[in-house]
Amino acid sequence: MLRDAFAPPEGLNELVRRFYTNWFALDVSVRDLFPPEMDSQRAAFAHALHWVYGELVDQRAEEPVAFLAQLGRDHRKYGVLPTQYDTLRRALYQTLRSELRDAWTGSVERAADQSLNLITGVMSGAADAEEGPAWWDGTVIEHTRVSRDLAVVRLRLDQPLHYHPGQYVNVHVPQCPRRWRYLSPAIPADPGGGIEFHVRVVPGGLVSNAIVNETRPGDRWRLSSAHGDFHVDRDDGDVLMVAGSTGLAPLRALIMALSRFAENPRVHLFFGARYSCELYDLPMLWQIAAHNPWLSVSPVSEYPRDPSWAADYPDVSPPRGLHVRQTGRLADVVTKYGGWGDRQILICGGPNMVRATKAALIAKGAPPERIQHDPLSQ
Ligand SMILES: Cc1cc2nc3c(=O)[nH]c(=O)nc-3n(C[C@H](O)[C@H](O)[C@H](O)COP(=O)(O)OP(=O)(O)OC[C@H]3O[C@@H](n4cnc5c(N)ncnc54)[C@H](O)[C@@H]3O)c2cc1C
Ligand code: HEM
Repeated sequence: MLRDAFAPPEGLNELVRRFYTNWFALDVSVRDLFPPEMDSQRAAFAHALHWVYGELVDQRAEEPVAFLAQLGRDHRKYGVLPTQYDTLRRALYQTLRSELRDAWTGSVERAADQSLNLITGVMSGAADAEEGPAWWDGTVIEHTRVSRDLAVVRLRLDQPLHYHPGQYVNVHVPQCPRRWRYLSPAIPADPGGGIEFHVRVVPGGLVSNAIVNETRPGDRWRLSSAHGDFHVDRDDGDVLMVAGSTGLAPLRALIMALSRFAENPRVHLFFGARYSCELYDLPMLWQIAAHNPWLSVSPVSEYPRDPSWAADYPDVSPPRGLHVRQTGRLADVVTKYGGWGDRQILICGGPNMVRATKAALIAKGAPPERIQHDPLSQ
């Protein structure tokens, strides 16, 4: 019953919409924490609660409790107050009660009470118990426009952030208050606090445009702790990596981490973009490949010729003798060589590219359980 209340329908969950209206009316301090547009937040909240209730109904408490504890620790970066957990619990209780109307029996009431106490109790308890930093602040020290729609941003964090290569963090930039976005560090964690991001403009996108067009040295960014499970198992055979544009970032961090070892599984990286002039990091990748025989790099561009604005940005054409650029969609080019079924497969890039490449690889026989990719949205 409670799980179904949060089942995401085609459109947005009406109950969640009403919940936020009730919560903001009950506690005005909460509204200011959220950005004006709430669609993706409502979807994320509904999705989280639907999953948590599903697990609880099936009598699996361990994973949801661990998830809620992590969510509570992570929520510290939003500056959440303990009293806000109390108003959330009351607003959600009232919303459920009026939503379920005739179905609101004594047993449903008890289940709602217990589950809401559990959810808010675990989140706030874990947040209180956590002694590590709630966030990491850092200063932009370099912003390089590597192509028309792409920027490489380097920061120095006030204190180092630990993460595994391949993980991503939530990022808040001064141009876009309260709008957090995920970005993947493009280098392994640096004990000196250095960190690097590669950002591509998404058409109409608020934060990506601000980062690529408006970020300046001296800007102060805020980062969350790291998430994600992208990894290469050095004992689990050869590796296929497929990177679309800035989807290169976490794969590059993994490759840099691997390059500390003399022996590695073979890694074949397909790095794709619309135009070959947008393959911004090829010179760096070739340098790594030149010194590490386990790495091969195949550049792929969707279109055969560069646009006129290519002349305004650094030349990234390959040195002679290295892999020749191929033309086409990444999904088609990669699967020309088969399903890569014997490889660990890591795909990273825009959601459409990841979906298409994954489907094409599976159609060619790649086992789905060997394919890794990050969540496709926030
Ligand atoms: C785990 C993870 C890691 C990420 N790492 C990076 C990274 O290292 N570098 C990087 O540049 N981006 C990365 N992203 C994407 C990034 O978080 C933002 O979603 C993206 O920059 C768009 O934000 P925005 O505010 O500009 O767009 P919004 O204003 O949020 O959205 C504008 C429109 O663009 C669509 N949209 C949103 N994201 C994308 C996308 N990625 N591709 C195509 N359309 C999109 C939205 O649906 C919406 O219609 C990552 C995303 C995830 C989930
Ligand atoms: C005091 C209580 C809470 C406050 C003040 C709060 C606030 C916020 C804010 C400000 C965001 C970022 C929104 C954005 O970037 O657009 C967020 C994200 C999110 N919240 Fe909460 N939240 C609370 C409790 C909860 C609870 C109980 C759940 C579910 C069990 C939840 C699930 C999520 C999820 C899944 C996200 C998106 C992922 C993330 O950014 O962490 N939140 N919340």
